[in-house]
Amino acid sequence: MASLFFLLILTFSSIFSNTFAADSNDHLKTYIVYMGELPKSDFSVASLHTNMLQKVIGSRESKSLLWSYEKSFNGFVAKLTEDEKNKLELFPSETQHLHTTRSWDFIGFPQDVKRAPLESDVIVGVLDTGAWPESDSFNDDGFGPPPDKWKGSCDSTNFTCNNKLIGAKYFNIDGFAGDEELSARDIDGHGTHTASTVAGRAVNNASLLGLANGVARGGVPSARIAIYKICHLRGCSDADILAGFDNAISDGVDIISLSVGGRIITYFRDSIAIGAFHAMKNGILTSNSAGNSGPRLGSVSNTAPWSLSVAASSIDRKFFAQIVLGNNITYEGAAINTFDGVIYPIVDGASVPNTKNGSASSDSRYCLPDTLDPTLVKNKIVVCKDLIDPAESALLSGASGVVIESDLGDEDYEATSYPLPATYLSIKEGNDVLTYINSTKTPSAIILKSNEVVDEAAPTVVFFSSRGPNLITPDILKPDLTAPGAEILAAWSQGTTVTGEQGDTRVVPYNIISGTSMSCPHVSAAAAYVKSFHPTWSPAAIKSALMTTTTQLSPSKNTDAEFAYGSGQINPIKAVDPGLVYDAGEQDFVSFLCGQGYSNIALSIITGDSGVCSPATNATVWDLNYPSFALSANKPGSSVSRTFHRTVTNVGSADSSYQVNVVAPLGMVVKVDPTTLAFKQVGEKQSFVVTVDATVGSNVISGSLVWSDGVHKVTSPIVAFFFPTF
Ligand SMILES: *[C@@H]1O[C@H](CO)[C@@H](O)[C@H](O)[C@H]1NC(C)=O
Ligand SMILES: *[C@@H]1O[C@H](CO)[C@@H](O)[C@H](O)[C@H]1NC(C)=O
Ligand SMILES: *[C@@H]1O[C@H](CO)[C@@H](O)[C@H](O)[C@H]1NC(C)=O
Ligand SMILES: *[C@@H]1O[C@H](CO)[C@@H](O)[C@H](O)[C@H]1NC(C)=O
Ligand SMILES: *[C@@H]1O[C@H](CO)[C@@H](O)[C@H](O)[C@H]1NC(C)=O
Ligand SMILES: *[C@@H]1O[C@H](CO)[C@@H](O)[C@H](O)[C@H]1NC(C)=O
Repeated sequence: MASLFFLLILTFSSIFSNTFAADSNDHLKTYIVYMGELPKSDFSVASLHTNMLQKVIGSRESKSLLWSYEKSFNGFVAKLTEDEKNKLELFPSETQHLHTTRSWDFIGFPQDVKRAPLESDVIVGVLDTGAWPESDSFNDDGFGPPPDKWKGSCDSTNFTCNNKLIGAKYFNIDGFAGDEELSARDIDGHGTHTASTVAGRAVNNASLLGLANGVARGGVPSARIAIYKICHLRGCSDADILAGFDNAISDGVDIISLSVGGRIITYFRDSIAIGAFHAMKNGILTSNSAGNSGPRLGSVSNTAPWSLSVAASSIDRKFFAQIVLGNNITYEGAAINTFDGVIYPIVDGASVPNTKNGSASSDSRYCLPDTLDPTLVKNKIVVCKDLIDPAESALLSGASGVVIESDLGDEDYEATSYPLPATYLSIKEGNDVLTYINSTKTPSAIILKSNEVVDEAAPTVVFFSSRGPNLITPDILKPDLTAPGAEILAAWSQGTTVTGEQGDTRVVPYNIISGTSMSCPHVSAAAAYVKSFHPTWSPAAIKSALMTTTTQLSPSKNTDAEFAYGSGQINPIKAVDPGLVYDAGEQDFVSFLCGQGYSNIALSIITGDSGVCSPATNATVWDLNYPSFALSANKPGSSVSRTFHRTVTNVGSADSSYQVNVVAPLGMVVKVDPTTLAFKQVGEKQSFVVTVDATVGSNVISGSLVWSDGVHKVTSPIVAFFFPTF
């Protein structure tokens, strides 16, 4: 029988705790009992789960077992009391959140790029909010039947699959769908957007009501898409995330795209890391978003070394909305405004509090819900300070436009959509508008439809993109790389509106949104593109190919350097021919985990084997065969010295010789031995040792190591930094 060491995930959201308490048994909570590998024998796993549960709940009459994971790994979801839970070994978990086309051209991946015939055999599993199956991006004209390896199904009501969208399943194990329709149909938009960014077919004349007009296309337009709806409007439960992985793996997907996350948590309590580990064992690379919690250092999530963690960077197109005041002075702010301009009177929110409701101008200046006097804002533009969603509440109070003033107006902030004409100004410009309002008896203004502006500074990592260092394993550099994630046009759900906010009536087939959720599917597509040329490459080999062929970003425009962009911006064309790869398999990751001090018990949950750690299998973090190099010192101003063992596999030409080239800044000394690697055959492996001595200040110091044969440049960043031990 499988190891009876098990961990539990408590699926419980603080935000939605009331919903659970409203259940018939308010002392019961939902837990995931995660047991690692499937047993090798062929008895029913579900009956094993029932038996185990029986021992814990005794004779209590209850439909406790909600779900059995029995396809790709072993575990179940159950409703238990606190006492019952305590009879099992535990770890808690919460709700995960969605990290919310010109981009392909911008990164040098044109529509007519060379394609492998096998691209139409590649299946990308998208774990998200579902998809809108009728979108033009998922039209299957010209597609043959799915490849034979496909074992999935279209297991959803109100959803028709086709030869493009070949599978659809939804999960609602612990009731996160609430009273939403139980269907893989997307009523949020996020999943339709990410799935079409990965593998939507090319659609001409796509735009958001005329903005960003052009061809909307996924990175691998011939690939197939399988939809796993693991997120509902409320969020994404760990139970559903694991069910998505379990099914995607057994259905036969090649790449998993997952733009979800939130917590920074040890690998064994992280449903996404656990699911991705099983995917990796089955030859499937998982591409994850790095998170939208930047620019705070140490905010990067989804840091498991067997997955990709993707930052978000800008493309060379930005959207600005101008406001022209009655005195003809014009200001411009980042905003996606699809509305045609109309002249309206303009008022300061602070001057129109809803006194009948007891509101004061200290509330109405932020346009908080119900704090504006409807009779004084009707058919007017209102100026609001940014706090919580001033645009939605201004609209609900009857306003016809909104000027939002914010500290972030000075930052390089991403343009977003609002449910009414809007622009987004800095505090200083906002004040100028207020001064104008005070200067005349009949202040008026017009907010114009957004214009597209060329951003010469691109690519830069955007403000919100989560930054390193990696708090779980500091000496694994995260994020791994970056891709476009700002103001991306892609398909949208017709089951919602542009913003999804109250009062928005714009139902659109394409929408423009920003997030590491949008950069992640770019990398999923790049991985699928590499896989279509090299179907036998391991997840780590594909990941290495993507990371060692990136375009460097400018450290002067990105002050957090590699903590912002990792190895750099993806270059899918180069990734198909990287020359050398840093490969790694399950045993390498297990040795790494052993070396990190994880117990045999914890590891057996993942591997299914007991006693996997031994001194012989114990590898230091510096010896994991990772395509980047990181070393931390725990005191600022101190020196640190580390030795890295690495092995590269020749995937270029048979007879080749690579020379090393090291770039090291002041304060960093790098030695590589040997400095030449000669290969006779494709598939041959060669090892080398890198020794780095660094004196770190308060900022990250960055060098690089490049293996070059004159054709390929296999590039890895080397970063040294101060990392406080907590
Ligand atoms: C492009 O789409 C718009 C609506 O989004 C439509 O009005 C226009 O006629 C289309 N143009 C072409 C050439 O199809
Ligand atoms: C603003 O510009 C318009 C058109 O250029 C002009 O007709 C109008 O008189 C100007 N108004 C003021 C207040 O300068
Ligand atoms: C006061 O606010 C409530 C909502 O909280 C709203 O329904 C009501 O119409 C408001 N009353 C007035 C007089 O504005
Ligand atoms: C505009 O006038 C109001 C009311 O007199 C005053 O509170 C506010 O400070 C003035 N704002 C500016 C920017 O002059
Ligand atoms: C299918 O989904 C659409 C869009 O969400 C919804 O309007 C419709 O009622 C659903 N149909 C059924 C039969 O549930
Ligand atoms: C592996 O290394 C870690 C960290 O140095 C140590 O805690 C652990 O005891 C070692 N395990 C074995 C089996 O040697």
